[in-house]
Amino acid sequence: MCGIIGFIGGEQAAPILLGGLKKLEYRGYDSAGIAILENGQIDIAKSKGRLEILYDKIDGGRSFHGTAGIGHTRWATHGEPSDANSHPHRSRSGKFAIVHNGIIENYATLKAQLQDKGCEFASETDTEVIAHLLEQNDTGDLLETIRRTVAQLEGSYALGILSEEHPDEIACVRCASPLIVALSDGGNFIASDVTAVLPYTRHIYQLDDGEIALLRRDDVTVYNAEGRRIEKELKTITWSVAAAEKGGYEHFMLKEIMEQPQAISATISPRIGNDGRIVLDGISLTKEELKAFHRIFILACGSAYHVGVVGKYVIEEVARIPVEVDIASEFRYRMPLVDERSLVLIISQSGETADTLAALREAKSRGARVLSIVNVVGSTIASESDDVLYTWAGPEISVATTKAYSTQLTLIYLLAFYIADALGRVDTLTLRHALNELIALPDQIQKILDQAPQIEQFAQRLCYLDHAYFIGRNLDYAVALEASLKLKEISYIHSEAYAAGELKHGTISLIEPGTFVAALACCERLFDKTVSNIREVKARGAQVLCVTQQGNEAAAQQADHVFYVPRTYPLFMPSIEVVPMQLLGYYAAKARGCDIDKPRNLAKSVTVE
Ligand code: G6P
Repeated sequence: MCGIIGFIGGEQAAPILLGGLKKLEYRGYDSAGIAILENGQIDIAKSKGRLEILYDKIDGGRSFHGTAGIGHTRWATHGEPSDANSHPHRSRSGKFAIVHNGIIENYATLKAQLQDKGCEFASETDTEVIAHLLEQNDTGDLLETIRRTVAQLEGSYALGILSEEHPDEIACVRCASPLIVALSDGGNFIASDVTAVLPYTRHIYQLDDGEIALLRRDDVTVYNAEGRRIEKELKTITWSVAAAEKGGYEHFMLKEIMEQPQAISATISPRIGNDGRIVLDGISLTKEELKAFHRIFILACGSAYHVGVVGKYVIEEVARIPVEVDIASEFRYRMPLVDERSLVLIISQSGETADTLAALREAKSRGARVLSIVNVVGSTIASESDDVLYTWAGPEISVATTKAYSTQLTLIYLLAFYIADALGRVDTLTLRHALNELIALPDQIQKILDQAPQIEQFAQRLCYLDHAYFIGRNLDYAVALEASLKLKEISYIHSEAYAAGELKHGTISLIEPGTFVAALACCERLFDKTVSNIREVKARGAQVLCVTQQGNEAAAQQADHVFYVPRTYPLFMPSIEVVPMQLLGYYAAKARGCDIDKPRNLAKSVTVE
């Protein structure tokens, strides 16, 4: 996600800020900018694209004088990557400048209120409302001004703030987005993570939600949300720079697995309105248009295709519209029967996958309406689609996707219920119950993440395997596809996923004593059927791991090992059961000493056919 750096001290700030932004590049970004405060005046430089463009624009910071400033690398969420949308953003008169990481969920309401008062906006960002609010709430006391402003915000934010009326201070505040304050003899810093400050200091305060810090050249004061001064524990960072980039995790993949609760929350919460109904920001489809679709086609590659397989089960069951799901590279060459009565749903983390893009163009050329689920704002797939729903997963660095997959799933659920609600195919009670369960998903997932050490122990036994099979029925089959891919792509253990009922039509001949079979059995109404399939492979000597909901004690009698997962709304079980499978793949690959974040022969974004 976006990176924040701020400095106030004895040296020129601009080169320090640019150096800090360079260290934050790994977080992913599409534009960068800095603001410097000197003699009560703020100067800003920002530009779309690589940091080098900004660097050249301001001569490596040499043309920007001043010893206090803030900087930002932006990863677009609201509004495409552009100079205007880059941070820092200014308030109306220009006396405040801010940088922001996070998402302001109520920004549209706040923006409308500010516009009513004559405020003009220079960008499409949610961030700019905060700059204008600071000016509107300005009491002359910076702490109080910030408190009044953040009280109006809903969502997540880490903010770095400059005020022309407070030339000897920089301020920051956070809520549900990371931010640290770092202390050094030469001055003090704010940063999204410690990588940006490690060349200067290892002494930091970790800000908690609601806390506000005012930094001066030689002192830092931290306040709680009520504005009372508090004493924070000064921590000393012992991580290496490489470990710091990964937030202390050994690999980006593990960090991204662990980030899933927050990513899912960020994807869901802005889309549930106060009236308990679903609000899909990027969609302009009317009820009449939705009614007119005869069929939905889901097109994607890799893990995104596996989300599509879940999507077929969920959308057909909830919205009662026939769904075809297709691998994009197959769809594009099969003379598809797509026309203007088709809704084509494209799923892509990067928004740049060549085959998926070609499938989109093929569908459009046949008159279909295209709605895409994409993680990267401004990507080609996003810009060529009629409607876009963004996953707010943040940049994903590990080649093997985890948090992007999980956020795509949650958008599928929202979309299914949105269509069903628009078409009157779901009653209010069911909708409310489902949405409550959806909101609770991040907490349920966290319970599994807390059991990572047990999964690691189990996975260590798998590292000697040559083959593995994942079986399941219905949604469990869809998850088996992803579980199998996760294991094979990073651990290089040969693995296959099968619809549990199909196994006996050939593949069961491969089962022999000791063969590892993971049976996914979270689809309650088919539990007994899957148990029969477990018996079949057990009878041939397989070692079986069964993944099922808490309370399904019968599983323990059949399988060699059982991993129990929390319950949720039945159609949302894929979000829960995929998590132990991600961890299983990760820890098996780790035990085999594989290059987990960059598996051999694979690329994160496949832009060739
Ligand atoms: C690559 C990645 C996969 C991803 C697939 C589709 O193969 O390694 O993790 O699922 O591309 O990528 P997309 O960006 O379109 O989701």
